[in-house]
Amino acid sequence: MFDERFARRRAARYRRKGLDATARRMVELLEHRGLRGATVLEIGGGVGEIHIELLRRGAASATNLELSPAYEAEAARLLDEAGLAGRVDRRLADIAADPAAARPADIVILHRVVCCYPDHPALLAAAARHARDQLVFSFPPRTPVSRAFVAVQNRLLGWGGRRFRTFAHPPAEMLAVLAEHGMHAAVAHRGAVWQVAHARR
Ligand SMILES: C[S@@+](CC[C@H](N)C(=O)[O-])C[C@H]1O[C@@H](n2cnc3c(N)ncnc32)[C@H](O)[C@@H]1O
Repeated sequence: MFDERFARRRAARYRRKGLDATARRMVELLEHRGLRGATVLEIGGGVGEIHIELLRRGAASATNLELSPAYEAEAARLLDEAGLAGRVDRRLADIAADPAAARPADIVILHRVVCCYPDHPALLAAAARHARDQLVFSFPPRTPVSRAFVAVQNRLLGWGGRRFRTFAHPPAEMLAVLAEHGMHAAVAHRGAVWQVAHARR
């Protein structure tokens, strides 16, 4: 699913238009509480546009964990263009399966990632354990329309021979996982396609 073509398209879009509206909201939420000197852990950050923007706004360093290696060339190009090479550590790892893959950070971000992962409690629990101060993640709403969309999409993926599936996990369950790990979590934005949750210690 997340191949070099997808990475090229994401990087080109970011160069042309900057962050998408949901990512911009996530950055603004984090910026509101202060970014100066913060360490960032982005899970499933793709070509890395969110942590690039956080570094531009004062964060100190970032680690990106990805499952797909297809983003690396575009991500390196974007970091060079931004003059930020050397401030981002990019690793291929699944934090839910390998919690030692990254050290805890002040800020943890997952943009459009929980909807690609079947075991949301494991992923969010690992993310929360790594968040020293704030955690922000985006997810699709769980409505009859979104559930029908996900069902059709998964049927098409199955017919196309793909193993990848998407999910509209229950928002209350996701927030409860963060609360179980000592975070105060709430939905900060309710868009029709993407919602944003923000959690802090
Ligand atoms: C829909 S893409 C979003 C990429 C990027 N955040 C964006 O919004 O453009 C979902 C990404 O999450 C990654 N991903 C899913 N589960 C993950 C996990 N447990 N650890 C790291 N990356 C993960 C996938 O490899 C994929 O690149």
